[in-house]
Amino acid sequence: MPMNPKKYRPFPPVALPDRQWPNRILTHAPRWCSVDLRDGNQALAVPMNVSQKLELFSALVKCGFKEIEVGFPSASNTEFTFNRRLIEEKRAPDDVWLQVLVQAREDLIERTVESLVGAKKAIIHMYNSTSPAQRRVVFGKSKDEIKAIAINGAKLIKERLHRLKGTEVRLQYSPESFSGTEVEYAKEISEAVMDVWQPTPERPMILNLPDTVEVAMPNVYADQIEWICRNIKNRDSLVISLHTHNDRSTGVAATELGLLAGADRVEGTLFGNGERTGNLDLVTVALNLYMHGIDPKLKFSNLSPLIDVYERCTGMTVPPRHPYAGELVFTAFSGSHQDAIKKGLAERENTPEAHWDVPYLTIDPADIGREYREVIRVNSQSGKGGVAYLLEAEFGIELPKDMQREFGPIANDAVDKLGREVSGAELKAMFWHEYIDRISPWQLQSFDTESKNGVVKCHVKLLRDHHPVEIIGEGNGPLAALVHGFRKIHTFGRVGIRFEISNYAEHALSSGEGAAAIAYIQIKTTDGKSRWGAGVDTHIELASVRAVLSALNRS
Ligand code: KIV
Ligand code: ZN
Repeated sequence: MPMNPKKYRPFPPVALPDRQWPNRILTHAPRWCSVDLRDGNQALAVPMNVSQKLELFSALVKCGFKEIEVGFPSASNTEFTFNRRLIEEKRAPDDVWLQVLVQAREDLIERTVESLVGAKKAIIHMYNSTSPAQRRVVFGKSKDEIKAIAINGAKLIKERLHRLKGTEVRLQYSPESFSGTEVEYAKEISEAVMDVWQPTPERPMILNLPDTVEVAMPNVYADQIEWICRNIKNRDSLVISLHTHNDRSTGVAATELGLLAGADRVEGTLFGNGERTGNLDLVTVALNLYMHGIDPKLKFSNLSPLIDVYERCTGMTVPPRHPYAGELVFTAFSGSHQDAIKKGLAERENTPEAHWDVPYLTIDPADIGREYREVIRVNSQSGKGGVAYLLEAEFGIELPKDMQREFGPIANDAVDKLGREVSGAELKAMFWHEYIDRISPWQLQSFDTESKNGVVKCHVKLLRDHHPVEIIGEGNGPLAALVHGFRKIHTFGRVGIRFEISNYAEHALSSGEGAAAIAYIQIKTTDGKSRWGAGVDTHIELASVRAVLSALNRS
């Protein structure tokens, strides 16, 4: 079947020529409400059992959520029991509101109120669907009839509030499918509910405006929110709440623009679990605020254990490219990106107080409990920077810049042949193979020096292709003496091996290496060619002698 765009129609814009939201910026965190245990749960092929819901509830409390939609208590025994256990076992801290969802129907409202008896703080969230398609297709009712459902539900709830003595109760109304509803009608029905509940600035009503199915671009949702904020009566007696889904993959954008448009509160789930393409991902919105220097008032400083709880309880997984939480989102394989990250991180070491400005990393991975070792990973796309970073980060091997240029392509070739990602340990093994383990043709047997009047004399016993060779040389230091000794050497018909030391670096190795030091030496031979060598020994002088032999062995 050919695709047929004529089957669809554009979404009508909201008439709001003087819209204000595009000129605003976000300055503070909204109120957050997690709907993981309700909307998220409703989306699962196998809904969570009570113990999974309890585990996820306490993880949400630990993150700092103060409003948690815990379920749909009238929908099933599991849901009702879960609510009762939260209340009877006093699992909710005193400052956490237990939110419950209910349709505007008497039997359901009855059971919902019953489920809340004894709660400290409760939000009763009533909804009915309001869009033209829902009115026509699902209910076959007129606007007035749909409004009557909402008014009736609001009254039924109000009449039962006396049963919740000792519970601080807030009321929430959602015109479900708000984003598909005419704004004028959404206002009319919401105001009708307000007329029943009589909210005040001291006891405001939460008006939740769901993007139940994302049907338009996020700017349209922002227009709808701003239109309501500007036109609804008694705005100061309302908490305007956003509830976006992600059908067009812009749930986060719609929420962010909705906040610019004047909303106060955001509903969503961890990592965006929810029906179809999911609910709004609260973690992303919170960390997006954080990366702009705004305290999100939620704690996501250790995401990995939270991901574990989420995956265990919901059976869902967090994909590797998921913003902030995915396994690969702080990882660079590309050489030029690794180089930039390495430079950015090095700059930060010298200016830890400066604002975060590391190329390719939107936030410091450590802030959410991610390790730097996962930032740079090496495959055939990687360059010298990544290779050097891993050797240094994991083994304290600090290759001189110029040596990185030599070893980078060698490692890259080997990785390319393997055709997969390599670990730091594998890179170290490649380095050892290329430099440290080079003992042919020259192998050190012993190196002794004596010093007289500022002149160092060395006596070196070597094997050249397993044949003993001795050299004696003099200079102003042990290495100069060694270079001099090679110049005078008579071996295998050759007289004198000439080279000079053009670069030298050394440092202690981390204790785990069982060796005290590593030396890196670059030699330049008479044909003008340069080669690096490296040597490891408990004695720094011997490490540098070994490095010279390593360079000669590679010549
Ligand atoms: O998406 C939605 O509209 C809902 C409502 C019940 C708030 O989940
Ligand atoms: Zn929803």
